[in-house]
Amino acid sequence: MFSEKICRSLASGSMIRAMFEQGSMLKAKYGEENVYDFALGNPDPEPDKEIIDDIIALADEPGIHKYMSNAGFADVRSTVAAHMSEESGREFTADEIVMVTGAAAGLSVTFHSLLDPGDEVITLAPYFMEYNSYVGNQGGTVKPVNTLPDTFRPDIPAIAAAIGPRTKAIILNSPNNPSGAVYPEEDLEALRDVLDEAEKRTGNPVYVVSDEPYAKIVYDGVKVPSVARIFKNSITVNSFSKSLALPGERIGYIAVNPDLPDKETLEAALVYSNRTLGFVNAPSLFQKVAARHLDRSVGLDAYKERRDMLYEIVTDAGFKCLKPQGAFYLFPKSPIPDDKKFAEIALRHRTIVVAGSGFSYPGYFRLAYCVSRGMIKRSAGAFREIMAEIAGGTEG
Ligand SMILES: Cc1ncc(COP(=O)(O)O)c(C=O)c1O
Repeated sequence: MFSEKICRSLASGSMIRAMFEQGSMLKAKYGEENVYDFALGNPDPEPDKEIIDDIIALADEPGIHKYMSNAGFADVRSTVAAHMSEESGREFTADEIVMVTGAAAGLSVTFHSLLDPGDEVITLAPYFMEYNSYVGNQGGTVKPVNTLPDTFRPDIPAIAAAIGPRTKAIILNSPNNPSGAVYPEEDLEALRDVLDEAEKRTGNPVYVVSDEPYAKIVYDGVKVPSVARIFKNSITVNSFSKSLALPGERIGYIAVNPDLPDKETLEAALVYSNRTLGFVNAPSLFQKVAARHLDRSVGLDAYKERRDMLYEIVTDAGFKCLKPQGAFYLFPKSPIPDDKKFAEIALRHRTIVVAGSGFSYPGYFRLAYCVSRGMIKRSAGAFREIMAEIAGGTEG
């Protein structure tokens, strides 16, 4: 009666959302203070006062709440283009920018514009599994390629081997959800050589779709290499959900590389897709707000402190873990091969984690540390108990 495809998707569900529900149940039973919920990447700081002040002031601007061009306000797009030019060294203009309803919509609009049924999109596992839907909704399929164990760096020969005649695009997400890894420049340059070679061989470009909601959330002076600089066949999708702590407001942008061949057709396709997928245009007020805060990173110092705290807690408890350079997740190795079973054991200690299988990378688990310091501190005993239970061999 209803769509068979959607009913199948409902049955498979989202592991992150499932853990979120489990968390709510545990909190109702044991009280908030006694549950350590690391399931969801929902930024916990409030937006900075300057952002709130702009929201209030701009809401009163005449005409701000009306329909507009499907690509967004011209002045906002020019400001974003100047920002992209500065970051990449390429010359973006307003024509290359489409304002969108967050990265989720930006990716949907991008794949609606790029894919024909049967096309393939390479993803680098571990990855944000919603990509499966953004690609699948357009009749495409994802082809996951594992990153290297423990460092989560791209496995360039494996990517080269995965490229086939139907490969239309590859998604990069650095800083990465869930690993927190930042892909080094040398890896991206090696990838560029592989994609250039594939294009020479097949005559078709493999587009790089760079999903960058965490680009401003980096630590220890790390600089995220600009994908738009390295790859001319690139489409950057960005969002202010994380950097401005505004995930509920749904605002982001797509930037088409100014040197991408036939970019005008792609730009027209993106604007058309934004309209006909039903987004029409990105939220008007928040386009104006975001344009004033392109370089801001709300809560960065707090995230760094929490990364350090939680990293110390889990490694002291005996877990192996990459110290992430960006985003707000840790992705430790599960001490037992079955990561779903590990997540169940953690639940018994009122600790909510997401199994690596939820990111197409079994054997690990994700902890989102965009949560209160107090909760991180209180969780130390639970991580020790989880390890002790496993070391005791009852679940080995
Ligand atoms: C890697 C990644 N891409 C995209 C999104 C979607 O972000 P947005 O809120 O901008 O739609 C998220 C959200 O958690 C994410 O982690």
